[in-house]
Amino acid sequence: MDYNATTPADKEVLALINRITTECYGNPSSSHILGRMSRACLDDARRKVAVSLECDDDEICFTTGGSESDNLAIKGVADGRSCGHIVSTCIEHSAVKRTCDYLATRNFSVTCLPVDRMGCVDPKHVEEAIRDDTFLITMMWANNETGQIQPVEDVARIAREHGITFHTDAVQAFGKIPVSVRSVPVDLLSISGHKIYGPKGVGALYIRRGVELVTQVHGGGQEQGLRSGTENVAGCAALGEACRLCTNRLDEWAQKLGGLRDELERGILERIPETTVNGDPVRRVPNTSSISFHGVDSSQLVVRLDEVGFAVSGGSACKSTTEGPSTVLTMGMGLSADEAAGTIRFSLGHGSDASHVAQMHEVLPGIVEQLRGVRSEKLT
Ligand SMILES: Cc1ncc(COP(=O)(O)O)c(C=O)c1O
Repeated sequence: MDYNATTPADKEVLALINRITTECYGNPSSSHILGRMSRACLDDARRKVAVSLECDDDEICFTTGGSESDNLAIKGVADGRSCGHIVSTCIEHSAVKRTCDYLATRNFSVTCLPVDRMGCVDPKHVEEAIRDDTFLITMMWANNETGQIQPVEDVARIAREHGITFHTDAVQAFGKIPVSVRSVPVDLLSISGHKIYGPKGVGALYIRRGVELVTQVHGGGQEQGLRSGTENVAGCAALGEACRLCTNRLDEWAQKLGGLRDELERGILERIPETTVNGDPVRRVPNTSSISFHGVDSSQLVVRLDEVGFAVSGGSACKSTTEGPSTVLTMGMGLSADEAAGTIRFSLGHGSDASHVAQMHEVLPGIVEQLRGVRSEKLT
């Protein structure tokens, strides 16, 4: 139940990696047949990603994942100028947050917008934060810890009206809900392969035609000169196939996982007192549930669940474990440090089924009760 951290590669995706690594291993820049075969695989992969996002092939730049896509988008825009203002939010993944922090140490200033108790950014706040020198808005599509879907349509419209570039980190939205750059006119959009049943170490950045980015990796000029390096052809092909599969099966999976997630929550709330589900129950991706168990230390709960065969996460798994309670929950949604410290992220995926949910309902109440008991003993 930790599919927001990562997913296993789909079997069709694995078959493609295998085929390309053995049959299509040429360097796509070579002019001979092996190179041309590889180039064709890369073109095909780009096409599949573009079809999924509803854009043109040449608007897709392959990267090493969500973090690089975020860095390329934000630094790529900022490096084209000497100073200016960026609007971001307090619930961004560290790949966005730390990139903005880094820019704030140069000649840039960053406004970090709050979210409401439900974990959502208010588009009015975005509009109010805009200054004469604002050149970039970066706001995620869906949050990795709570699954809350942000008002990307409204923010895209506001950015357009003000002539400001809009980047969205869609790493946790893509593959779970419809994400199309034709319906929502963002300028830059990040995705990652390993969140959508593709491999780790590959991702993409959508770059709307006309948006200028400054090169972040210099070298042989691959990927339209934006990030050089011999292309990871098998990885890109795998990403393309994963995009195709998740787009084709979006409704089916959303329905299945939404039903399982709701059942998981219903049973937990019914069986365990002093437990709350965080965020807006409607505006969230279908597989994710953030639940606070009052009086429980989530790190201990993660260990205890691991011992009985369940993988869950105490917040976001994609950052260092040395950090304190989630800032998404405390700074963002106003939970106390204690509530945030007792919060578990359950994120379901293709391997989840009703028997896992039933098993969780069986083991969790006893573990929570025991941990609460240990804690109150310590306090007395
Ligand atoms: C919202 C979000 N953005 C970016 C990333 C980073 O993606 P990657 O692991 O592909 O670098 C993650 C991964 O956890 C994420 O959840």
